[in-house]
Amino acid sequence: MSREQILEYLNHDLRSELAAIEIYSAHARALADDPLGEGIRAILEVEQRHARDLTARIRALGGTPAEPGGLETVTGRAVGAATAHADPVEMLRLELAEEQQAIRDYATQIAEILDDDETVELLTHNMEDEMQHARWLKAQIRRLSGRPSPA
Ligand SMILES: [Fe+2]
Ligand SMILES: [Fe+2]
Repeated sequence: MSREQILEYLNHDLRSELAAIEIYSAHARALADDPLGEGIRAILEVEQRHARDLTARIRALGGTPAEPGGLETVTGRAVGAATAHADPVEMLRLELAEEQQAIRDYATQIAEILDDDETVELLTHNMEDEMQHARWLKAQIRRLSGRPSPA
């Protein structure tokens, strides 16, 4: 796989992370006084680290990282704002959908990249974080929808 293809993956991931940061920021503000707020803020900090690490890796490979403020930021901000007045379960579902897509994207890229272990390590680390986020979000959705936890 070419360096250009890897940079394309990394910038795709970075743009998704920038959108996620906007969504989580809006929801963290909306749920500031809710018990969920703390968990959302903790996830937000991890997404900010993902964006920083992806930016650094893109630079290390000689690429140009997507900047905050682009289309994804604007879209993420709009989605975050539009859903900040929704039921908390709806916010969690939207966040879960973002995490699920990130897990799929990272897994595909990890499977495809043959010759860049350092990038694969970074993507694996990020994917594991997203899996942890998805697990927490699913547990909150179950709890708030009154569904029993799996044994
Ligand atoms: Fe992330
Ligand atoms: Fe995440």
